[in-house]
This record gives sequence, structure tokens and C-alpha cells, in this order.
Amino acid sequence: MKDAVKDKPVGTGSGEVVDRKTWRQIKEIIESTRGQAGAPIRVLQRAQGLIGYLPPEVLAAIAKEMKIPPSELYGITSFYSFFSMVPKGKYIIQVCLGTSCYVKGGQKIIDTLGKDLGLESGGTTEDRMFSLETVRCIGCCGLSPVLAINEDIHGRAKPSKMREILSSYQ
Ligand code: FES
Repeated sequence: MKDAVKDKPVGTGSGEVVDRKTWRQIKEIIESTRGQAGAPIRVLQRAQGLIGYLPPEVLAAIAKEMKIPPSELYGITSFYSFFSMVPKGKYIIQVCLGTSCYVKGGQKIIDTLGKDLGLESGGTTEDRMFSLETVRCIGCCGLSPVLAINEDIHGRAKPSKMREILSSYQ
């Protein structure tokens, strides 16, 4: 049987997850990497780059197209922290909990963000503005405690400054 998703939106029935154009782009990378070592990771990276995350429906469709078990893609997605099966916020807040940052109050930053945004590590605000992650050392230990918001590094971060910092991203 020919594949069921060819050139059709990949969706849940309650709405499209990806449109035809995006699905075609994903299929192109599937074709161009077919048979190559590391192909599933490259396909998933590309798909996440296009969609922003990896919805289960898309993982299932990719597995079908690649003729591999869906469990292989689920395994990769859960092993590598840069893959996400849930939508991420426009801004990814990464709070460092490496030794230096932890000692200098990294956890207090997380507690404050939890209070102000209602976020736990791994979570995303309802308006999809912010996602919160914890990381282990981002190489700026001299500026501890450190957090990154997308590409911006905020050093010597203070819980009392969090609202001000976040408001500059809205
Ligand atoms: S421990 Fe936080 S930047 Fe190194």
C-alpha cells in the first residue's frame, strides 16, 4: 500500500499539525538521508526546526515514511534533550544549575520564575511566550548565577530582577 500521508497534511483529525509544504520539506530530508548513518536524528532535527517541536503524529508519520519502528524515533526524541514533543515558548529560559551557579543562588532564580510565571522546569507558559529549562554550566561561571534567554546571557542574575528582565521580552 502506498503511504497514507503522501502530500496530505499530517494531523490528528481535530486540526492539522503540519501543512503540506512543511510535510514535503520533511519528506525531502527523509529522501536525501535515506540509508545514511544518523539519518533519523537529522530528519528529526530538520522536522523540529520546521515545526518547533515534534508532535507524536509527525513522529508516527516520519517513522512510516522511513520504514522504521516509531519506537526508534521516540527513543531518540527522549534521549536527546534538544528534542521536544511538546510546543516550546517563543523564549527559552535556561537557568544554570551548575555548581558555581547553584552555590550562588540559581535555584532561587528558578523558584522566582516558578512563582512569577507558574513555570516548572520543562514547562511552557499557556501563552507560549516562555519555556523554562535547567542546564549544567553554560560556560560563564564568572557571572554566576547565570540564565540565558534564547541567545542572551544574563549574568549575576537576581530574583528581584526577574520581572524586569522578562518584561523586556514581551
Ligand atoms: S556553573 Fe553556571 S555558568 Fe558555569
